[in-house]
Amino acid sequence: MVKVVAGAGRASDPGESGKVFLVGAGPGDPELLTVKAYRLLQNVDVVVYDRLVSRDILDLVPRGIECLSVGKEPGHHCVPQDKINELIVALALTGKRVLRLKGGDPYVFGRGGEEAEVLVEEGIPFEVVPGITSAAGASTYCGIPLTHRDYAQSVTFATGHLKDDSLDLDWPCLARANSTVVIYMGMSNLAAIAGALVAHGRSSQTPVAIVRRATRPDQDVVVGTLDDIAERAAACGMRSPALIIVGEVVALHETLCTEECQPEPHRSALPLALVRG
Ligand SMILES: C[S@@+](CC[C@H](N)C(=O)[O-])C[C@H]1O[C@@H](n2cnc3c(N)ncnc32)[C@H](O)[C@@H]1O
Repeated sequence: MVKVVAGAGRASDPGESGKVFLVGAGPGDPELLTVKAYRLLQNVDVVVYDRLVSRDILDLVPRGIECLSVGKEPGHHCVPQDKINELIVALALTGKRVLRLKGGDPYVFGRGGEEAEVLVEEGIPFEVVPGITSAAGASTYCGIPLTHRDYAQSVTFATGHLKDDSLDLDWPCLARANSTVVIYMGMSNLAAIAGALVAHGRSSQTPVAIVRRATRPDQDVVVGTLDDIAERAAACGMRSPALIIVGEVVALHETLCTEECQPEPHRSALPLALVRG
């Protein structure tokens, strides 16, 4: 567990009350960070970040600003949520401006709501800065529009990993035709999810994409159907962090994700003079 040391990081103004910024870092490509998130990264005392925040984004934090990881590193356990809450509260109470940096958007399966509730209870000023959620990043970088007038009139974001480890989702709703379903944190339950959608009426031939490390240089995509996606994903070694995108729109991947529409190499537009290393 990370210890809070008063006065560590950049000097905070004594007497000034601290503040917490709950900030979405987006899915990984540093150019998908918002201008507001970038500005705040240059103007805080400490950054508390999750495992899913990409290295390229952490490299944008200027030298001298303390960065504390609360995510799971290989061989280590992640910091439990109540300890993260305690940490950001304790840092703010020392008068620091704390940037709590989360992958994607803080309010989409990011526990940002839980952290905001704690800050309200503790009377600590805070702001929330949205980020591009990974479903939007995966969709655009893989040529899979989440809605399309011909194929999907709605899109649902669901979690494949509930707090109590059950998979008690609204299957009849998720299995409806002409809709797209994006499942976060579902890789360990992929076969069960695909089976449940078919059992509740979705065609076993419905296209499915698994998108791993969306928007990053090592992004990986596997496409199949509800019938065979678990087998295909296993054969390619697909694992977390990945999204499961289910729906007819997935068929557009082949047409819309060609060589010609790949993102240009990034970083050239970033103010590199300000970054670390
Ligand atoms: C705890 S949730 C965080 C979601 C995040 N707040 C967001 O808005 O994207 C973690 C899950 O998000 C998905 N995820 C996050 N970043 C991803 C990425 N770059 N590529 C694919 N899936 C990602 C995966 O399903 C992962 O298991």
